[in-house]
Amino acid sequence: MRYVIIGAGAVGGTIGGELFRSGQEVLLVARGAHHAALREGGLRLLTPESVEVLQVPCADSPVETRDDDVLIVATKSQDTIAALEPWPRHLPVVCAQNGVANEAMALRRFERVYGVCVWLPAAHLEPGVVAAYGWPYAGMLQVGRYPQGVDDLAERLAADLAKSRFAAEAVPDVMRWKYGKLLGNLGNAVEALCGHADGTAELAERARAEGRTVLSAAGLAHTSPQEERDKRGDQVDLRPIGGAPRGGGSSWQSLARGTGSIEADYLNGEIVLLGRLHGVPAPVNEVLQREAVRAAREKLPPGSLPVDRLRELIDERCAAVSR
Ligand SMILES: NC(=O)c1ccc[n+]([C@@H]2O[C@H](COP(=O)([O-])OP(=O)(O)OC[C@H]3O[C@@H](n4cnc5c(N)ncnc54)[C@H](OP(=O)(O)O)[C@@H]3O)[C@@H](O)[C@H]2O)c1
Repeated sequence: MRYVIIGAGAVGGTIGGELFRSGQEVLLVARGAHHAALREGGLRLLTPESVEVLQVPCADSPVETRDDDVLIVATKSQDTIAALEPWPRHLPVVCAQNGVANEAMALRRFERVYGVCVWLPAAHLEPGVVAAYGWPYAGMLQVGRYPQGVDDLAERLAADLAKSRFAAEAVPDVMRWKYGKLLGNLGNAVEALCGHADGTAELAERARAEGRTVLSAAGLAHTSPQEERDKRGDQVDLRPIGGAPRGGGSSWQSLARGTGSIEADYLNGEIVLLGRLHGVPAPVNEVLQREAVRAAREKLPPGSLPVDRLRELIDERCAAVSR
């Protein structure tokens, strides 16, 4: 089996690098300066206790595929369709991403789709370099067939991940885990917009409370923070690398890199969509989605919006929808 990692950034680079390090066959698919750096110098994988340069095979476009290829897509959700488009549709697709929309986008095109709930604190801010801050495991990964169930491939992937530096298991209800993770990720936009200022935790919690109400109205099951903590235990702690902690999560990194896009339409936007479908207002997530998308388009750096201003915008929208 060969793991073809489409989008070898923070998550894809860590998963691909760790699988390669443990002896699995891996192909990293990247583009632009990142692909050039991987091709010329290999993948520089930084962890809290090591710096390794891994000569992982890489490509910048679809290669000749093999029947034992497994496509692992690890792009941001807004890039999923374009990233999967060129690949043959008989291959299995594994979505190692946040949000809950990628699996359905893939299943429209590919027959066999798998989801992964990704607890993996990593960063990719420089071409050729991926930093994996999780310790002692790089991450915790629940793997399952979409929409539900476990089959041989889910078991095999979980086993291969567990042989490398991941706490991984196959679960029959991967989307329940991913809806729980989605609730956690509703704070990503707050961190991207306001950085780590006082008052951000309260705004993130308001987004999550609204998210729980919306998921409940939609009848969607999700894990609880306690269940997630119990499962994670002390398997994945965040440790600094080179004396520095991780600057911020994946949405924060999108603004830091000035990529021009952000995942908010698939994180806060998922709650907004479900709220609209089920007649439940979601003003907090609406504002977070709108402001995060605006900041990304305008290429503003992370932390450019004062937390008091964001609270004001949210309160105005909450007042408007309750009128
Ligand atoms: N970072 C974390 O700590 C973390 C933790 C848990 C879950 N997640 C989730 O994991 C997913 C990936 O996030 P990430 O932080 O790893 O993102 P990332 O660092 O931006 O990596 C994504 C990579 O995909 C590349 N890409 C996009 N479209 C492509 C295409 N068509 N072909 C080839 N490569 C393509 C991007 O290239 P460009 O740079 O050229 O756009 C980028 O290198 C997201 O759903 C995120 O929410 C992230």
